[in-house]
Amino acid sequence: MEKQIQVAIDGPASAGKSTVAKLVAKKFNYVYCDTGAMYRVVTLAALNRGIDLGDTDKIGELAKQIKISFAPGEPEQKVFLDGEEVTTDIRQGRIDQSVSAVAAVPAVREEMTNIQRQIAEEGGIVMDGRDIGSTVLPNAPVKIFMVATAYERARRRYVENKEKGIETASLEELQKEIELRDKKDSSRKVSPLTQAPDAIRLDTTDLTIDQVVDKISEIIKKTLNEFS
Ligand code: CDP
Repeated sequence: MEKQIQVAIDGPASAGKSTVAKLVAKKFNYVYCDTGAMYRVVTLAALNRGIDLGDTDKIGELAKQIKISFAPGEPEQKVFLDGEEVTTDIRQGRIDQSVSAVAAVPAVREEMTNIQRQIAEEGGIVMDGRDIGSTVLPNAPVKIFMVATAYERARRRYVENKEKGIETASLEELQKEIELRDKKDSSRKVSPLTQAPDAIRLDTTDLTIDQVVDKISEIIKKTLNEFS
């Protein structure tokens, strides 16, 4: 069987990581793991239970108690919180606004990182997030850091929300929210959003999804050739 490798895709909010990561995983028959969805599920659980987001002890405990699971789905993977489907719920604006605070809690990161490493043990994996190349899978042979201008990322999110029937803020509001989230994610103490020194930076502002998928696929193929 051909060697299977770990592919880490990181980058700021709404850079198109999930869409691309899922397609790349499909192409190589690898497992796809959307780590952002996991932080979103913890956030949803905290909001549903009325937990004060400043109560980091409670949020840390919650991350250990809940069960997060995934199932294949089109156009996107299905996400479950304690067996209940929350695929659409975790994309709501109220989650966008609170997720960075929850993701900054060290106990939450520790728990999510452990789960993510277990998932990655299974073989070929494409994992997307903020700290995959830097912290979760530091030995991944392929690391991509995807960027695009804040305006383009807001535009993509706006179109995506409309397509998925998710109630959306205006383009301007989305851009502000995205910039604020990037700032929070980049400045937190534990595993902030950062480009790993050995990651390849890919500016996708003027690229189509297919072009990005092709570029990453080429990098994976080249790496696989080096291994064989
Ligand atoms: O889809 P989008 O790019 O807007 O965000 P996401 O990938 O769903 O991630 C949502 C949030 O989870 C981020 O803004 C981070 O606060 C957090 N996150 C993280 O801290 N570490 C990761 N590996 C993935 C996401």
